[in-house]
Amino acid sequence: MTEIAERLEELRDRGLHRRLRLVEGPQGPRVTLDGREVLLLCSNDYLGLANHPKVRGAAADAAMRWGAGAGASRLISGNMQPHSRLEKRLAAFKGYESALLFGSGYLANTGTVAALAGRGEVVFSDELNHASIIDGCRLSRAETFVYRHADLEHLAWGLRKARERAALIVTDGVFSMDGDVAPLAELHELARQSRCRLMVDEAHATGALGPGGRGSVAAAGLSGEVDVVLGTLGKALGSYGAYVCSDRETTDYLLNTARSFVFSTAPPPPVAAAASAALELLESRPDRVERLRANATVLRSALQGEGLATGSAQTQIVPVETGDAERTMELSERLLERGVFAQGIRPPTVPEGSSRLRFTVMSTHRSEELARAAELVGASARELGLAARAPALAA
Ligand SMILES: Cc1ncc(COP(=O)(O)O)c(C=O)c1O
Repeated sequence: MTEIAERLEELRDRGLHRRLRLVEGPQGPRVTLDGREVLLLCSNDYLGLANHPKVRGAAADAAMRWGAGAGASRLISGNMQPHSRLEKRLAAFKGYESALLFGSGYLANTGTVAALAGRGEVVFSDELNHASIIDGCRLSRAETFVYRHADLEHLAWGLRKARERAALIVTDGVFSMDGDVAPLAELHELARQSRCRLMVDEAHATGALGPGGRGSVAAAGLSGEVDVVLGTLGKALGSYGAYVCSDRETTDYLLNTARSFVFSTAPPPPVAAAASAALELLESRPDRVERLRANATVLRSALQGEGLATGSAQTQIVPVETGDAERTMELSERLLERGVFAQGIRPPTVPEGSSRLRFTVMSTHRSEELARAAELVGASARELGLAARAPALAA
């Protein structure tokens, strides 16, 4: 057996082996998965914009006008009108002087964190931050202080110890696997007192939280106050890529030093044009955000009615913790047989022992289908002996 085969075997033994499933057709509340129609409850296309005719049309038009690819990095010859138009629009939407596009959220986080903290400095990172932030901390070569999840006292203690070496506090705005919101007002205050920057990743907050879906920073009344706000285009904005909002000086600095910006091809023009169209739709029809919130409430309360614990969060991300990786995957498979697709989330995406089904709703789901899905989750969980009470009786 080769070393790689052994490692794969070990992943299988621990219930951690992953494989790709095939979605036929565009994202939507229902999709055809590996040949059968299922209710999709694990997409980040929160507002249903990935397949919106205006978004698709904008991508198609841009492909005809600008071509399929940008051909070079932005700093060489790949900077085109769809990029700069989108940056202006995103900066205005978020209430910042400027924005800089990156190829993806992963690239934006690794490049930005590594540009804003360096050797001899300390970066402070919440223990539940996304992997791309963790990798950015590693790449930065700064010392990383991982504070306990949303634990302000722990963070304050670390900041006191680091003194003037404190360079950056970085946090998810909405935590990707738990759906809870970071204590942004307090983090902002700690950053101010410690004279270090605060960076917030709004991958799951944009299009979902705050006025008109402007995100968690806007919801906390801190637009323009938090130093660096990162967002992605591949989730509620239905396209692909990411952006970093900040003041002009910081943008100029990132443009010159963030390696994942400098040394990577510019996002394809159709992708940028699609994101611009999605943003326009978000601005003109904020009721989609309201529907997303209402759907989150429907699914969360229906799951709770089935006796399932859904954590403390109130956003469109609804986790049902199952603990063990193998049983999580069994639950996911059983649900799939019943026509509900919610991917099991296991280590290293979440800490050991906290595997879960991570349900995400879309604004385009119907409340009846969410309620029915919750019944199926309850029944499947009970069959597997996962802590679910008998369903609550209707009043
Ligand atoms: C919080 C967070 N940040 C960043 C990313 C990475 O973004 P992208 O998928 O655009 O690389 C993700 C998920 O993909 C995420 O959940």
